[in-house]
Amino acid sequence: MTEPLVIRAPAEMTAWSRAAHASGERIAFVPTMGALHAGHVVLLGEGRRRAERLVLSIFVNPTQFGPNEDLARYPRDLPGDLAKAAGAGTDVAFVPDAGDIYPAGFQTTVAVGELSRGLDGPLRPGHFAGVATVVAKLFNIVRPDLAIFGEKDFQQLAIVRRMVADLAMGIEIVGVPTVREPDGLAMSSRNAYLSPAERARATSLCRALFAARDRVAAGEGDARALLETARAALDVDRLDYLELCDAETLAPVTRVDRPAVLAVAAFIGRTRLIDNVRIGIG
Ligand code: PAF
Repeated sequence: MTEPLVIRAPAEMTAWSRAAHASGERIAFVPTMGALHAGHVVLLGEGRRRAERLVLSIFVNPTQFGPNEDLARYPRDLPGDLAKAAGAGTDVAFVPDAGDIYPAGFQTTVAVGELSRGLDGPLRPGHFAGVATVVAKLFNIVRPDLAIFGEKDFQQLAIVRRMVADLAMGIEIVGVPTVREPDGLAMSSRNAYLSPAERARATSLCRALFAARDRVAAGEGDARALLETARAALDVDRLDYLELCDAETLAPVTRVDRPAVLAVAAFIGRTRLIDNVRIGIG
């Protein structure tokens, strides 16, 4: 198991990428904020299978955190991340400093309109512009042929897909189904914040989503009934949203008569968790 080459300077990253392309190799890219867990390892495995070269980025992006969010306490573990990246066959870990991504004078923002307006958008002002901007910049530095994202952050995935299409970036975006703990909890770096008692209650998010999905499988298509079923199963301290929305436009739906996503965001103690399931397809 060889440790990935760690590159910190954007120019060096781009030069590595150019050399790989010159040798006819395709590059798969997994952008992350580190604190890698088994879900990230699945994303890396997908990249490994799809391209000759695999690049991971680790960058806790300050512009996607609100003033009262967890930027300062976001888990960081570079040695652990590099060990996991090595196990997944990663060639390069791109680990820039904030000053490399946002040098003095930086003033450009990429904002994806409609898709950023619902769900997390109004609750986390500036979050998706921060995500789109950093992902665009990472794409320009790494120059991947394809990039892999988890479906757990399905609004982020939809926004990245839209940005890539709208700006003709020519990068294939691959979505990978959410990886779950054996009891169903969606894997997230933020699960590390949960106390044992909170961890037990956190499974109510996925149980709520699965209960509604089961009702759809049993023939229920009315959004209000499905949302009631899900809400009854939730055991959270604050519900930010529980919404049934169109899988493509993310607009709220009243009936499941096309592919839809049931999404939840809630606090357990001080920890904000999100999860979603696709329903009404297949
Ligand atoms: O999903 C994440 O970890 C982040 O939002 C991303 C895509 C790496 C951008 O900072």
